[in-house]
Amino acid sequence: MKVVILDSPAEVARYGADIFQQQLQRKPASVFGLATGSTPVQLYRELIARNRAGNISFRDVRSFNLDEYMDLPPTHPQSYRYFMDSEFFDHIDIDPANTRVPPGDAADPITACAEYEQAIAGAGGIDIQLLGIGRNGHIGFNEPTSCLTSRTRVKTLTRETIADNARFFAEGEHQPHLSVTMGIGTIMEARLVVLLATGASKAAAVKAMVEGPVSAWCPASMLQMHPAAVVIADEDAASHLS
Ligand code: F6R
Repeated sequence: MKVVILDSPAEVARYGADIFQQQLQRKPASVFGLATGSTPVQLYRELIARNRAGNISFRDVRSFNLDEYMDLPPTHPQSYRYFMDSEFFDHIDIDPANTRVPPGDAADPITACAEYEQAIAGAGGIDIQLLGIGRNGHIGFNEPTSCLTSRTRVKTLTRETIADNARFFAEGEHQPHLSVTMGIGTIMEARLVVLLATGASKAAAVKAMVEGPVSAWCPASMLQMHPAAVVIADEDAASHLS
């Protein structure tokens, strides 16, 4: 695991965007694994700007998102499909048909999760996986105690994650407690993993991920076993590292 510590969230976004740009130069038809949440927004803006400037193209890219809430239609403003379209896909030259988000509204989630795994494999596997990290060490919605070899499946969110994400929902609005997420085993098969962490609220999770034991109590710690994982943290998120 390589750890890069930078001064600001803006530098984290630029450094992450550089890695994606290099990936596209190596392989224009790359398969991306993508994340939602606050952390990657700046990186997406960087990539949008580089696409508009003509420095990179997503024309041949296929993408698979990490996770989706269960039982929110894709048109719901808090669904991760809506987030990806409005924050990224609508602003770049990717073919919308080549973007996939886990099946949060499938009638048969078990079959739909297996199909999502098959689709990733059918695309040749994920070349570059973008991740954020939860305050509890989750990656995707693989909450603490998740199986370290898990595949795409339905996961119940912890109280902490529900509370952390409540900021995105209006008061009284239904907030799902279930999600569909790629598993830790799915993430570990990506050829390159790029995890962004910014802000002091992530400092304890970053320490556990980088310096703690590999443990299901901190799912992100599994990345210590990944042959090509890069953690890009700002000073605040890295502040507990020894
Ligand atoms: C989002 C995801 C989550 C987030 C994590 C951090 O697709 O998989 O693991 O990366 O909850 O969220 P933010 O960036 O909002 O702090």
